[in-house]
Formats: sequence, C-alpha cells, structure tokens
Amino acid sequence: MHLRTLVAIVLALTLPSTLSAAETIVIKFSHVVTPSTPKGKAADKFKQLAEERTQGRVKVEVYPNSQLYKDREEVEALQLGAVHMLAPSLSKFGPIGAREFEVFDLPYIFPNKTTLHRVMDGALGRDLFGKLEAKGILGLAYWDNGFKQMSANKPLRLPADFKGLKLRIQSSKVLEAQMKALGANPRVMAFSEVYTALQQGVVDGTENPVSNFYTQKMHEVQKHLTISDHGYLGYAVIVNKKFWEGLPADIRAVLEKAMQETTVYERDIAQKENDEALEKVRAAGTTQIHVLTPKEREAWRKQLVTMHKDFQDVVGQANIARINKIAAEVEKESKAKK
Ligand code: LMR
Repeated sequence: MHLRTLVAIVLALTLPSTLSAAETIVIKFSHVVTPSTPKGKAADKFKQLAEERTQGRVKVEVYPNSQLYKDREEVEALQLGAVHMLAPSLSKFGPIGAREFEVFDLPYIFPNKTTLHRVMDGALGRDLFGKLEAKGILGLAYWDNGFKQMSANKPLRLPADFKGLKLRIQSSKVLEAQMKALGANPRVMAFSEVYTALQQGVVDGTENPVSNFYTQKMHEVQKHLTISDHGYLGYAVIVNKKFWEGLPADIRAVLEKAMQETTVYERDIAQKENDEALEKVRAAGTTQIHVLTPKEREAWRKQLVTMHKDFQDVVGQANIARINKIAAEVEKESKAKK
C-alpha cells in the first residue's frame, strides 16, 4: 500500500467528516493584541460565554499577541481553515482585495461614535461583510477600538512637524496617502514588529489608539504622543465560512447570540480602556502628551480632508455619501435634543 493511501485511511478513521453529538468543537481565535486591550478582553469574553452556553460542547482557544500569526498571515490562515475566528482591524482587508473597508481609514470621516456605530450596524456594514463571502469569509460583528493618536520622538503639533518622518502604518492605501499628505514616509509593518522598529529607529513614529500604544509598551520608546483623534481603528470579527456553516445549527445560534452580547460588552469597554491607558502613559512619565488645540486640529483637518475626494473611486463615492448622510442625521438629532 502506498504511504499516501495509508495516511488517507488513517486520517479518514481519525477525522470523521460530520460532527457527532458528543464531540467537542474547537474554535481557534487568533489575534495580534494583548489580552488586556478591548479586543483581547472581548475575545476572552466570547470564549467564556460560548463555553458556558454550550455546556462545554464548544471550546474556544484564544491565541493573543500574534502568538500564532501576524497580521497578514492570520487572514490567510483563516481562509485556509488553520484558525476559525479573527478580529483584524478594518485597515487590514485591502490586501485580500476588499478595498472598500478602507473607507473606515479616511481621516475625519466619523465625527462621533454614534455615527460610526450606525454605519457599522447598518446597510454599509452589511454590504462590506457581503464582499467577504466570495473569499470564504463571513463577518459576524464590528468591534470598537477608538480614535487614533500619533506618536514620535519629537512633538507633532502641525503638519509641518511630520516632514521626512518614517511612520509605521497598517497595510492600507488610505493610511499610506494620509502619511504622505502630512509629509511623512509611510512604512507598512506588522503590529508585532512595531515596538522593536521604534526602539531601533527603523521607524520614527506611528499611530494607534492609546490602548494599543500602552499595552505594546510604545511609551518606552516614544517621547511624544499627540491626542489628535484624526482617524478611527476598529475591527471586523470574521470566521471561516465553511467551518461556520458546517457547525450544527443549534450550536451556531448559541454562538451568534454570544457574539452579539460580546459586541455590546466590547463597545462598552473600549473607550474606558483607552481613557485608562492614557492615564497610565501619563503616569509612566516617559512620553509627553500634547492635546491638539482647535487651531492645530483645523490645520490637520485641512491637510487631510481632501483625501475623501481622492479616494472616492477606491472606497466608493456612494459609501462616503452614506456615511456623510448618517453623520448629518446624527447631528440633526443631537441639535434637536438641546
Ligand atoms: C495595528 O496593526 O496597528 C492594529 O490593527 C492592531 C490591532 O489589531 O489593534
């Protein structure tokens, strides 16, 4: 008998093609941040709810901190079925051909979180998830992190301060253009490599919500942090479509409910985690924090907002219009309340 045939028989005997009632279903959930971030805490919350509610039928193995895969690799691993669940940032879908997700990267497109959540939970959020299906991926939920801040070893107050700086970005064309518009040189790099790159001077600075900045200890290697809120970083919780649709229907329903509850929890803690992280950075005393003045903010906005037009063909003019429409509705409602 050929070795290959023998292996196939052994596999067929040890890996039944359908799940019997008693079998434990293992869900591997990989992510790149620490367990003490909004995403890390939510992944652990989902594990807890999923395991409790299925009485142990489902076991969720959470692999944090790029332990299993880095940014790009994790999406490929999901498509291959080597892991089953991820929550990549919305800036990481471009490389798999879902460029419309980069609408979330446009600077100053979301005036507030109410607008953001309505966009995520509405037709645009659903349409974006629809784009993933042909790639073997299902979108389950949108999770928050928060608005991004900029860091470097020099103060960043006005666009002119960025000139010539090498800044780490995620793999998004919008983010690349954003840094160029500020006069900096963008460098795409996996999240797990940022601390060392900053430490060794491979890059001079970066952008992220403060919860990521603090939990990756970037305050040890960055002297200045500007509270700019110039853009947003959030996540899409995604699963391998074949795996998810192959789950017993009752189990899948329980998991989807657990995911809904986890999403409420995650959005609830995200802002608080970022606020606390900022206090910790302040307490560490290694990084000077500068909050943009209204005048400085206006100078950044002026420099960056033209990108909405430049990228309308990439992210969809209609998508930008949908966000602007929701933002206007939210503003109208908030004025009516006053
Ligand atoms: C980054 O790469 O900067 C972030 O997407 C990391 C994360 O998942 O929050």
